[in-house]
Amino acid sequence: MMHTQPPGLYEAALPEDWPQPEALGFGQILGPYLVHAQHCAESGWHAPSVSARAALPVPMASAGLQYGFSVFEGLKAYRDASDRIHLFRPRDHARRLQHSAQRLVMPEPTEELFMTLCQLAVQVHARYVPPHGRGSLYLRPTLYAEEDALGFRPASRHRLAVAVTPCSDPVLRHNRLWAETELIRAAPGGIGAAKTGGNYAAGIAGQQRARQKGYDDVIWLDALTHRELAEAGTMNVFVQIGNEVLTPPLDGTILPGITRDSVLRLLRTEGVPVSEHRISLDELAAAGMAGQLGTAFGVGTAARLTMIDEISDGSTAIRFRDTGLATRLYDKLKQVQEGATHALREWRVAVPVPSSAD
Ligand SMILES: Cc1ncc(COP(=O)(O)O)c(C=O)c1O
Repeated sequence: MMHTQPPGLYEAALPEDWPQPEALGFGQILGPYLVHAQHCAESGWHAPSVSARAALPVPMASAGLQYGFSVFEGLKAYRDASDRIHLFRPRDHARRLQHSAQRLVMPEPTEELFMTLCQLAVQVHARYVPPHGRGSLYLRPTLYAEEDALGFRPASRHRLAVAVTPCSDPVLRHNRLWAETELIRAAPGGIGAAKTGGNYAAGIAGQQRARQKGYDDVIWLDALTHRELAEAGTMNVFVQIGNEVLTPPLDGTILPGITRDSVLRLLRTEGVPVSEHRISLDELAAAGMAGQLGTAFGVGTAARLTMIDEISDGSTAIRFRDTGLATRLYDKLKQVQEGATHALREWRVAVPVPSSAD
């Protein structure tokens, strides 16, 4: 396989018809390069390379395609007001990838390898990082089994590759969620806490069902009673009851979201009482009847924060109120991510991008 150094590294200009950042959307334009490293059972991790994206096919017989032995991450790089580029909480994403890999019996990339690949992916695509405040470069590090052989066993060849896509800054949306009482995404003892394709495969029918019923997305319930909130399609969820904010606990069935963790920290810093606690639909309905229900919102890397206006399972509709908390958190998180405040600056890791004069 050819691993070519990209021509004009750092210098490649954007095409003339490049869209405004607000028109980029999410995931539509992929960066031209993949930054990657191979792992062999005999020799461990090899040195990173950069290839044209099309030069890295996945073999059809690979366990990555056949059995879903593939785990991934999603993180963003932002420009600050001085045009410096930072990755947001990359080491936390590295550790989550390690946990996902461990669960699927795949080789765990070291934190340093993950950091090197992500930094290099940003460096070779530096021009694709939108201007300060108007978007980000989303990185998709993916670890997959790539050995070209059939057989259900841990593979002996894997690759960690980072693809990128420039995207708009997400606007603060309002969603209505369908609480799915028949299909499940994850069960205790399963792989719900791993960021792996199988969970999305399990979830796509629920998402479709929600949309067919006129809702924006699905909200998953626990697999045993079908009454407790788990998480939305690609977001962890928070609800405000009285003056307390609750979010479901990390019990192994939901993704331990990095944004969830960031929001918990922001809430605690503001002195808002928060609790990682089971939340049942019945408790929400009762709190609604008692006038105790405040705001609800979902959080994740792609959308940052989305207001939840309503959750319904078809028989009970729970409606939330806008108390201003979600907007405050959205603004605060955007500031922290974009380096518009010194608060929590330890979450941002600079990516040195040499200028063309260097
Ligand atoms: C199923 C699921 N839950 C939660 C999240 C939020 O996680 P994070 O905040 O790390 O992006 C995501 C998005 O990555 C997701 O796909």
